[in-house]
Amino acid sequence: MPVDNVGVAATSTIEVALGDRSYAVHIGSGVRHRLASVVARLGAERVAVVSARPAESTPETGVPTLFVPARDGEENKNLAWVEELCRKFAAFGLTRGDAVVSCGGGTTTDAVGLAAALYHRGVPVVHMPTSLLAQVDASTGGKTAVNLPAGKNLVGVYWQPSEVLCDTDYLRTLPAREWTNGYGEIARCHFIGAGDLRGLPLDEQIAASVRRKAEIVTADERDTGLRHLLNYGHTLGHALERATDFAIKHGEGVAIGTVFAGRLAHALGRIDEARMTEHLDVVSGYGLPTALPIGLAAETLIGLMRLDKKAVGGLAFVLDGPRGAELVRDVPAHVVVRTLAEMPVAALPV
Ligand code: GLY
Repeated sequence: MPVDNVGVAATSTIEVALGDRSYAVHIGSGVRHRLASVVARLGAERVAVVSARPAESTPETGVPTLFVPARDGEENKNLAWVEELCRKFAAFGLTRGDAVVSCGGGTTTDAVGLAAALYHRGVPVVHMPTSLLAQVDASTGGKTAVNLPAGKNLVGVYWQPSEVLCDTDYLRTLPAREWTNGYGEIARCHFIGAGDLRGLPLDEQIAASVRRKAEIVTADERDTGLRHLLNYGHTLGHALERATDFAIKHGEGVAIGTVFAGRLAHALGRIDEARMTEHLDVVSGYGLPTALPIGLAAETLIGLMRLDKKAVGGLAFVLDGPRGAELVRDVPAHVVVRTLAEMPVAALPV
């Protein structure tokens, strides 16, 4: 049986159009089994698979393969791990004509993508994201990065994958909070032009989120303008992650940040009350948190939000408005403080 037909139900394929660096993102049950045909298309004679899943669940690559267990998790997303990966690639004899495969969550795609970008000044990388968050966001768009003690994602490059295989079978074993993590990113798509995805089958929600991301990345690969939209809800979201020492997960922070972005846009006269309420409805409709954690001081959050990469001196948010979502710089601090004070509060999600 051709590899392409093994276990494949209805699938979607989305093209990320970037000239000679264009690639396809395949979404659906069983698409991981396309790996061998992707490796053959790339002409790779060897492959290094860095995987958070057991070796025996790695699909056929069709060529000699080095299996490296991944270290999923922010604490391992550092330059030491990237160096270790590159040393393993070298010991295996990987060349620039070969390929690297990542199989794991967003921290795996980020770190393995960076290792692939740096090794021999760049080898092709194929991402097989296994979390909902990585399928709807991290695996597409070419951002790679690792953390420094000073902050998250401070060292990285743009290195587009050669293909992305979002196998929805990987999602079956995800713990509840990992679903929340991914749905936070899907919910924010409602406000950045993906349309109303509520009620659609999961694979269609993933495909619509990736399609919108592909359009944005095609228009602004290097994050100089339009790509900021992908950070909808993220200014407060990132601050909440850091203020709670990452007890709040990324998607949870984005969910709360999306509700806050609706309130802030309304406070600034950019959207009416119905649209503000739509933010709450969409986020709560996905069963996501909508309230600030108890006990966080507004000054702490404001201080962290001033560090946001989009802010140049003042406070910057991606906000809905008459022309749709856009980056709004120099939002007055007193409006942010007042809007934070008006948010409901609740215990941390567990
Ligand atoms: N995750 C945001 C971006 O890819 O730009």
